[in-house]
Amino acid sequence: MIYAKIVGTGSYLPGDPVTNDDLARRGIDTSDEWIVTRTGIRARHFAEPGCKSSELALIAARRAIEAAGCVADDIDLIIVATSTPDFIFPSTATLVQAGLGIRNGCAAFDVQAVCSGFVYALATAEKFIRSGSHRRVLVIGAEVFSNILDWADRSTCVLFGDGAGAVVLEASNEPGVRATALHADGSYHSVLWVPGSVAGGEVTGDPFVRMDGQVVFKFAVRVLDEVAREVIDLAGVPQDSIDWLVPHQANIRIVQSSAKRLALPMEKVVTTLDFHGNTSAASIPIALDCAVSDGRIRHGQRAVIVGIGGGFAWGAALIDF
Ligand code: ACO
Repeated sequence: MIYAKIVGTGSYLPGDPVTNDDLARRGIDTSDEWIVTRTGIRARHFAEPGCKSSELALIAARRAIEAAGCVADDIDLIIVATSTPDFIFPSTATLVQAGLGIRNGCAAFDVQAVCSGFVYALATAEKFIRSGSHRRVLVIGAEVFSNILDWADRSTCVLFGDGAGAVVLEASNEPGVRATALHADGSYHSVLWVPGSVAGGEVTGDPFVRMDGQVVFKFAVRVLDEVAREVIDLAGVPQDSIDWLVPHQANIRIVQSSAKRLALPMEKVVTTLDFHGNTSAASIPIALDCAVSDGRIRHGQRAVIVGIGGGFAWGAALIDF
């Protein structure tokens, strides 16, 4: 049996933290108290104007490759999850390939599943490895979400930040990714979206994130524990064997509700959203890298990652480290 095993993680947050008070000082009609109480977010990072997702992805990727103890040319597939690609085309993954100096002709493509993008990308990579066609896959979540934030809309602009996270998945005889589950319900597409597009040389429609926060909240709370249970069942492992839940880092109240519904104490939940906000597809690999780097997630332990985002699209993976 071939498993896809995570053998290296890396992440990158650009620039200095921007606190909630900093946002208020910049003229947004908000307060630290409102943001912390509603979301748990205390700070986020923003890329410099003009900085692109591939630049953040590249730094996270180099760190993951170094942690994996391999070199860039060992990678035989690159998948980047992003909703803020550098360009309409080519894919951000091909730009990462070029930035890493990989000349082995490996495949590279993007996955678009918004905040669940990393779970979608990891599940895709796992299938390539399990089939035997690929041995070492670089999976990245990278976003410059600040490019699509409306600073006049305080109900969304305080929630998001920029960043990137990456993992190297390697073929192994040892258990790694044991189960994945992906879902979508496109009937909710206009609840959380950027409704603009490019046509005739112009942006037509609205180029900013629009969201009905309460609908997102209710839907997320319902499906995240369902899909976590689904991968636990698929993997055929007892629920009390889960050492860590690593959820999409959107909102502490969604995370707490999911943990409660799964009967998991918060000590077993990795939360990093307080210092980087919602970095969309980057949030789960950033959280994974934090918990691996600070020694919380150790070899031999078991984690469930869960994500949800626009679409709605959601999913989970059960991973042995
Ligand atoms: N600062 C201060 N006041 C604000 C802010 C702000 N940043 N934003 C909104 N308000 C005000 C509103 O104007 C409103 O004022 P009013 O009562 O005078 O009209 C009041 O706060 C309450 O607004 P609501 O939208 O009802 O606030 P709610 O309690 O629903 O909280 C929130 C909003 C935090 C967005 C919540 O709905 C939520 O957490 N939803 C989940 C959304 C989410 O996490 N999205 C991330 C992307 S999706 C994903 O990643 C899963």
